[in-house]
Amino acid sequence: MEQLLATGAGGVGAAAVAAAGGLIAAASLAMAAPKNSHTKPPAVPGLPIIGNLHQLKDKKPHQAFAKWSEIYGPIYSIRTGASPVVVLNSTEVAKEAMIAKFSSISTRKLPKAISVLTRKSMVALSDYGDFHKTMKRNLMLSMLGFSAQKQFRNTRDRMVSNMSSIFHKLVTDDPHAPLNFREAFTDELFGLSLTQSLGEDVSSIYVEEFGRDVSKEEIFHFLVHDLMMCAIEADWRDYFPYLSWIPNKSFKTRVFTVEANRNAVMRALIKKQKERIARGEARISYLDFLLEENTPLTDEQMLLLLGEAIMAAADTVLERLYQEIREVCGDRMVTEDNISQLPYLNAVFQETLRRHSPVPMLLPRFVHEDTKLAGYDVPAGSEMMINVYACNMNEEEWDSPEEWSPERFMGGTFEVADKYKTMAFGAGKRTCAGSLQATNIACTAIARFVQEFTWRLRDGDEGKEDTAQFTAYKLHPLYVHLMPRGRVM
Ligand code: HEM
Repeated sequence: MEQLLATGAGGVGAAAVAAAGGLIAAASLAMAAPKNSHTKPPAVPGLPIIGNLHQLKDKKPHQAFAKWSEIYGPIYSIRTGASPVVVLNSTEVAKEAMIAKFSSISTRKLPKAISVLTRKSMVALSDYGDFHKTMKRNLMLSMLGFSAQKQFRNTRDRMVSNMSSIFHKLVTDDPHAPLNFREAFTDELFGLSLTQSLGEDVSSIYVEEFGRDVSKEEIFHFLVHDLMMCAIEADWRDYFPYLSWIPNKSFKTRVFTVEANRNAVMRALIKKQKERIARGEARISYLDFLLEENTPLTDEQMLLLLGEAIMAAADTVLERLYQEIREVCGDRMVTEDNISQLPYLNAVFQETLRRHSPVPMLLPRFVHEDTKLAGYDVPAGSEMMINVYACNMNEEEWDSPEEWSPERFMGGTFEVADKYKTMAFGAGKRTCAGSLQATNIACTAIARFVQEFTWRLRDGDEGKEDTAQFTAYKLHPLYVHLMPRGRVM
């Protein structure tokens, strides 16, 4: 169950945020121990020039960082090439940075690939300020906030039902074949994100620059897949800014090609929807909202903001849970309305987010003025990495953190505030805009699929937890055997 859920809990929203975070982590330290070592965070020893880069080459920095925290404590500094980076590994220090000291740490330091692909014009990647506040507000009002989410309830219900029908059909066609879970939900989730962002679940689009129609699957590749893959590509010049005059041609070609393709497809999609709106066919969508509000945006900003919304929304015990659902719903189909009546379902979701944080490292922050954290002096000019994975695996905060145990979120010991204890959705002013949608979709989908099927992992897949780069995107798609329990009403 743990493995089954770990795949579904993330979604592209989280993967997008994580991919961006990961690539930056790689872009970060081994200066000599600070002069005032009694006030500055302890420094992890590294080599001259490259700092600690050689110790981070396995590309899972959150795990290396968690190990160092056992020696150097919840806050320490490293060097990625020329850049000093402060790493935070406990909930207390992370929250101090994200909430109490936010005003000194409210900007981002982005590596080259992400800067080119986002131009700091996406909500998640912009610095905190008027642009960020206005655009986050627009995103919440039109798509992700409480009222906006109510307007998309039917779209979400349809999506979960479609996925359930696909599963039933596949099981009927070949009851013994293992089913590729990712394949079944990626298309549906992408359809939802297109509907919310543009007003239409587009099946294909003519792209002038390509001189041909592009299918929905290709649109997904240009807008989501290629971007995520490119975003985790490191340019060595990120670590050594003083060498940025040296050309890196292959990197440049790759990033600019991905950008040009994304822009061409986005322009075609936006054009088609503007024509619809000009015909008087308004719909509920992020694009309709931005045009109606007359928000002063350049074409490029509009394209990037809509691209962000599409990318973020698209990504991707049993018996006890089943009994709870039966007690609350009987033979009726479980829906979003039942989520608050299902404490075990909520506990399963929270524990999955804790044990398999979809965003193990938050998007990097930049300390733009001298500040103090956990009593240490943190100088302006440091980059900051917040290691959610280490916070959630910290033995001082969690009993037997390695164990997947939803019960820790149940009963007398559970308080509403615990929902935010895992920091899976971040904290403070940069907290996740899509947490309501992610919770609604993940909980309803888990409940529906458990209500309608018994699940079993494909033989030999137990323990296959390998994830790609810094995201919780599984390297190997999840294959499961399903057995229908009988239709619900
Ligand atoms: C389980 C699923 C998800 C998880 C675990 C997740 C996690 C996160 C985290 C940890 C952050 C904060 C990053 C930071 O502080 O540096 C974040 C930010 C954000 N997320 Fe999510 N996310 C999820 C789903 C979504 C979805 C579905 C959407 C949109 C449709 C979304 C949109 C955003 C946006 C726009 C931000 C930037 C907020 C800001 O900078 O103010 N997320 N997410």
